[in-house]
Amino acid sequence: MPMKLRGRKVLVTGCAGFIGSHLTEELLRLGNQVVGVDNLSAGRKAFMEGAMEYGSFTFVEGDLLSIDLKHVLMGVELVCHFAANPDVRLGASNTRVHFEQNIEVTYRLLEECAKGDVLDIIFPSTSTVYGETKVIPTPEDYGPLVPISIYGASKLACEALIASYCHTFDMNAVLYRFANVVGPRSTHNVLHDFARKLREEPSYLEILGAEPGTNKSYVHVSDCVDAMVVGAERAKEQVDIYNIGSRDRLNVKRIADIVVEEMGLQDVKYNWTGGVKGGRGWVGDVKDMLLSVDKLASVGWSPRLNSEQAMRRAVREIIGQPSGH
Ligand SMILES: NC(=O)c1ccc[n+]([C@@H]2O[C@H](COP(=O)([O-])OP(=O)(O)OC[C@H]3O[C@@H](n4cnc5c(N)ncnc54)[C@H](O)[C@@H]3O)[C@@H](O)[C@H]2O)c1
Repeated sequence: MPMKLRGRKVLVTGCAGFIGSHLTEELLRLGNQVVGVDNLSAGRKAFMEGAMEYGSFTFVEGDLLSIDLKHVLMGVELVCHFAANPDVRLGASNTRVHFEQNIEVTYRLLEECAKGDVLDIIFPSTSTVYGETKVIPTPEDYGPLVPISIYGASKLACEALIASYCHTFDMNAVLYRFANVVGPRSTHNVLHDFARKLREEPSYLEILGAEPGTNKSYVHVSDCVDAMVVGAERAKEQVDIYNIGSRDRLNVKRIADIVVEEMGLQDVKYNWTGGVKGGRGWVGDVKDMLLSVDKLASVGWSPRLNSEQAMRRAVREIIGQPSGH
């Protein structure tokens, strides 16, 4: 069902994180009253400076596993649930973290949503729910969904929980499956890894995996936020699902070249580690990912930047930030 994204009371979880902080600013700009919750485990207060300029923003520092959600949800009609542990790599060494931070937190939140005034839920899911697909670009109705990472599994479980709570307790949801999102305030991705290593040692770059590395689609956070607004306002189903990404892919070698170029370096020697399980950077890393964005295009959204443009802009934004983040 179409969601109203203006003049409402909204809860954003993960409001101090990368994507959550950008969405919070957009919701405030659209005239909503926003309550943001974050435990600052990965998010930063500095990322909320733009939001803090609005009198209609309230920040609650707290952990979603223990905070009084009834109080936080008082009068809230729309919940944007962006808090999560998004680190795919972690799953192989710590199998519990995605269960707790993603599934358990979502369950706890849904229980309270079902009792309160909540009508609508926006949830950022991920391309990793598809696993390694036989169809590329992968459309939203692709199946079966067989995630190869515990992170992907946890987000798919969240999707299922949200869908079932919506149908059981008469709420609406829009689930977005993101490609890799890049841009200012991101704190953990391949671009940071490369920029950090090159700052420490500008002549040499260790790259996880086998040359030329995985081949994936990247989308800039500004495009991603626009896509979420368009998708929610034009949703048709009680639980609607949209992919968000760009229409092309970049391999890891190309990303390394872009970071090297943008940092003004020359003659950098790449040292590929060889990777695991057939050249992947880490266990659970999908090798080839491109999402079909035709469904969002059919309701009026198209990415302004392709993967290369999004990556190049993000590199400039990240290396231009004072802390290097
Ligand atoms: N960045 C991407 O490329 C990408 C791709 C697909 C999906 N997503 C999803 O988008 C959402 C945002 O991702 P991001 O990249 O902005 O990550 P992020 O780590 O920057 O943001 C997550 C925020 O949630 C907060 N948080 C985590 N656990 C919490 C808890 N228990 N209680 C309160 N706050 C908590 C963190 O402090 C952080 O500010 C996540 O749900 C992630 O799974 C991200």
